[in-house]
Amino acid sequence: MRLSYRVGAAALIIFAIILIKRHLDLIQDDAQVQSGWHFGSFTGESSDSSSSSSNGNTDTASTKPKSKPKLTGDKTPDDYVNGNQKDDALASRPVYETTPIIVPNDRVIVMAKLASEDTSWVSSDLNEWRNVIYTVDDQTASRHTPKNKGRESLAYLQYIVDHYHDLPSTLIFLHSHKDGWPGAWHTDTMAYSNVDSIRALQTDFVQQNGYANLRCQQTPGCPEEIRPFREPAQSGKTTESVYAQAWVELFNNTDVPEVVAVACCSQFAVSKAQVLQRPLEDYQRYYDWVLNNRLSDDLTAHVMEYTWHIIFGQDPVYCPDAYQCYSDVYGNPYFW
Ligand SMILES: *[C@@H]1O[C@H](CO)[C@@H](O)[C@H](O)[C@H]1NC(C)=O
Repeated sequence: MRLSYRVGAAALIIFAIILIKRHLDLIQDDAQVQSGWHFGSFTGESSDSSSSSSNGNTDTASTKPKSKPKLTGDKTPDDYVNGNQKDDALASRPVYETTPIIVPNDRVIVMAKLASEDTSWVSSDLNEWRNVIYTVDDQTASRHTPKNKGRESLAYLQYIVDHYHDLPSTLIFLHSHKDGWPGAWHTDTMAYSNVDSIRALQTDFVQQNGYANLRCQQTPGCPEEIRPFREPAQSGKTTESVYAQAWVELFNNTDVPEVVAVACCSQFAVSKAQVLQRPLEDYQRYYDWVLNNRLSDDLTAHVMEYTWHIIFGQDPVYCPDAYQCYSDVYGNPYFW
């Protein structure tokens, strides 16, 4: 009996020791599992990446976010979108704030001004447009034409010649008067306002048509302002009388049209694509003609006034219906 008691007690002790040992092993396993949750993911990743590599490239993006530490450095933007902040913290990779890329102002207003004129309204009231303003009668001005000739013409051509290779998509050629009568009489809004008209300008139409006259009222200019071969020559029509010779010098051909007509006044918009329809040499030739011809300032300006639309790809007679013109150019047939 006593012996059996001793054996029984010994067996109990051994059994107890085995239990305690197993219990201790279990605790140790738990510790391993817990720490493994942090560090064991290295193994997790290796299995992930091996599986993703076997699955091919398309699966990489979807399996990558599951792998915890990012050690490979090939994180795609999708990883950020999927929101793996824990992973980022673990791998201590900074998450950069992204700013959308905004296309720089891709349109310009080109203008000629006299030194005495205030054109600050262009920047303040039309600030969605870049502006390039040439002073025509002050050669100390930071941006100027070499001569005050052809009114706005030299400034318009100077811009094209200087920027032929870096033109914006849309170009407006505009006068220096903001609004009011009589200075801006030919601007088609109630207040004769170049601000109102430019704010309403349909740049899509400019892109599509290549050229848009900012004036839709047909007079003066339409329907047949210039008849270079009119017989007998009409006194007072001085632009008409010099037009044929000017055409030959400008275009270097003798295909002078019978009739030239366009709504007046040399304010218009063109597309870059339209400008590039002609080689730079053409604009250089027009520029030289304006600068060096023997005609007066006024007459030179008038010839150009009835030539811009032809330079920019329109027929010699460009007289669209006024309602159609308002609708196209300003998005409203009753714009004025
Ligand atoms: C003018 O045209 C003629 C013949 O068409 C040509 O030989 C000449 O080079 C042209 N001149 C200019 C300045 O383009």
